Amino acid sequence: PAAQAGATARDRLVVVCHRGASAYAPENTLAAVDRAAALGFGWIENDVQRTKDGRLVVIHDATLARTTNVEQVFPGRAPWRVKDFTAGEIARLDAGSWFGSRYAGAHVPTLTQYMERVSRNHQKLVLEIKNPQLYPGIERQILRLLGREGWLDRGHLRNRLIVQSFSADSVRTVHGLRPGIRTAYLGTPRVAELPSYARFADQINSAQAPLSAGYVSAIHTIQGPHAKPMKVFAWTVNRADDARRLAGFGVDGIITNTPDVVRRALNGS
Ligand code: G3P
Ligand code: CA
Repeated sequence: PAAQAGATARDRLVVVCHRGASAYAPENTLAAVDRAAALGFGWIENDVQRTKDGRLVVIHDATLARTTNVEQVFPGRAPWRVKDFTAGEIARLDAGSWFGSRYAGAHVPTLTQYMERVSRNHQKLVLEIKNPQLYPGIERQILRLLGREGWLDRGHLRNRLIVQSFSADSVRTVHGLRPGIRTAYLGTPRVAELPSYARFADQINSAQAPLSAGYVSAIHTIQGPHAKPMKVFAWTVNRADDARRLAGFGVDGIITNTPDVVRRALNGS
């Protein structure tokens, strides 16, 4: 029965494509969303920030420099912060060539464009509120947009959406505004602190290095805000041996740039 229970837990382990299938297409673009779908993965993760004129966009870094050609298009605008550019300016940028010439047409998507693509692909989303200290009120704004896109109905809330942040304040704000949303705190709180996170976070989404079987078990003994045991997802797990080790610890999900590698590791061992 113990082996059976282990197999059941592993079968239920959720594989989440980090920034889309970001080992195979430029991160946080619609191409990365589509690549995840083509590989057969339902869950993807993204990062949401805000432009100078108040539009929500999907990009990881606080600046545009690493993942776009902003330095060529706007040479005088260093340090090229997302929050210092309008949505129209950002729409002119190439967000794919840095990854490979065949992605030269890729753009930084608005959150609306992104949600439409995820909906069209019937995918599920771990939405990260990135750098919320730079964007006052962004939590309410994201929830408004999600509501408009049909992502706050009961079906989506039950099994299609998780909102996460490294900012506990931001996660607490989301839970307060819309308690039905599944939320995750990004970090690795000490075991003694877990009950205070359990008031507003359904999950702990932790870097893989600090995780252990004992820590994962401790999380599972604590009830989250929806009267279910808290879960734990590990990031960013790109190697087969790491995926197997974390599955052995009992994690509920793995966030990865290489979802195919993780799937093969978990099926084949
Ligand atoms: O989903 C977890 C992971 O995305 C957190 O780190 O820096 O990739 O946003 P980062
Ligand atoms: Ca992220």
